[in-house]
Amino acid sequence: MSEARSIIVTGGASGIGRAASLLLARRGNAVTIADRDVAAGQALAAAIRDEGGRALFVPVDVREEDSVKAAVAQAVAAHRGLHGAINSAGVEQKGRWLHELDAADWDFCTGINLRGMFLCLKHQIAAMLPAGGAVVAISSAAAVKGLVGSAEYCASKAGVIGLVNSAAAEYAERGIRINALLPGGTATPLAERSSAGNPRLAGTLRIPMGRLATPDEIAAAAVWLVSDESSYVTGASLAVDGGMAIT
Ligand SMILES: NC(=O)c1ccc[n+]([C@@H]2O[C@H](COP(=O)([O-])OP(=O)(O)OC[C@H]3O[C@@H](n4cnc5c(N)ncnc54)[C@H](O)[C@@H]3O)[C@@H](O)[C@H]2O)c1
Repeated sequence: MSEARSIIVTGGASGIGRAASLLLARRGNAVTIADRDVAAGQALAAAIRDEGGRALFVPVDVREEDSVKAAVAQAVAAHRGLHGAINSAGVEQKGRWLHELDAADWDFCTGINLRGMFLCLKHQIAAMLPAGGAVVAISSAAAVKGLVGSAEYCASKAGVIGLVNSAAAEYAERGIRINALLPGGTATPLAERSSAGNPRLAGTLRIPMGRLATPDEIAAAAVWLVSDESSYVTGASLAVDGGMAIT
């Protein structure tokens, strides 16, 4: 893995993004933690610096283009460019059946998970054009499964795969790799909220390995995808889901 590269992690204050930020820093990268949760993001950046790592927190709302643009610019200025991005900012489904789903619920979920992903890729790729780089978009096993009470979430995560496929084809010749990572159930605050708000969800999922992932297990795959160890991987939809995709 290349060391001392500048990597931005959206949604870096919690769950999978938090685990990825810690792992990246421990491997010598300069990490920009971008999140709307200012207190948690600042605390994590301080904890990384306390253990000798390089970390900066920047507030961002991925729905807002000016906010995303400013966050990327701060990462570039602080860490002399941008070489990688792990996009983990996301929200869960409302837990309603489709005929009861409000358009506002749809807009909220897709606005963060899909429009937000588009804005992040747009500005991260622009920043990587001079020197190349690698981008990871966290999609979900939900993109390729039929999950009850989750239409807006499944649609947003399937959209991320289309976005990644197109972007990977566009930028392969410019030295920028773009991949989708599809976690299955992962023990994070999002998963806890998701199960609480959608009690029938668990009954519709089968995980051959019989347990949730830890955030570290998903982060390890994301960090691999932004490292030079995955130098020939682009446009992939990598399932890290304990076998859920094959059920
Ligand atoms: N946990 C799972 O089971 C699971 C499974 C598959 C995919 N995922 C995906 O992984 C990603 C990370 O999820 P997690 O489980 O770590 O959740 P989490 O709730 O622990 O972390 C998500 C982070 O995103 C941030 N965020 C939310 N909206 C934002 C916005 N508008 N702007 C900036 N930051 C915002 C939150 O503040 C939070 O820090 C999400 O995209 C999620 O959909 C999670």
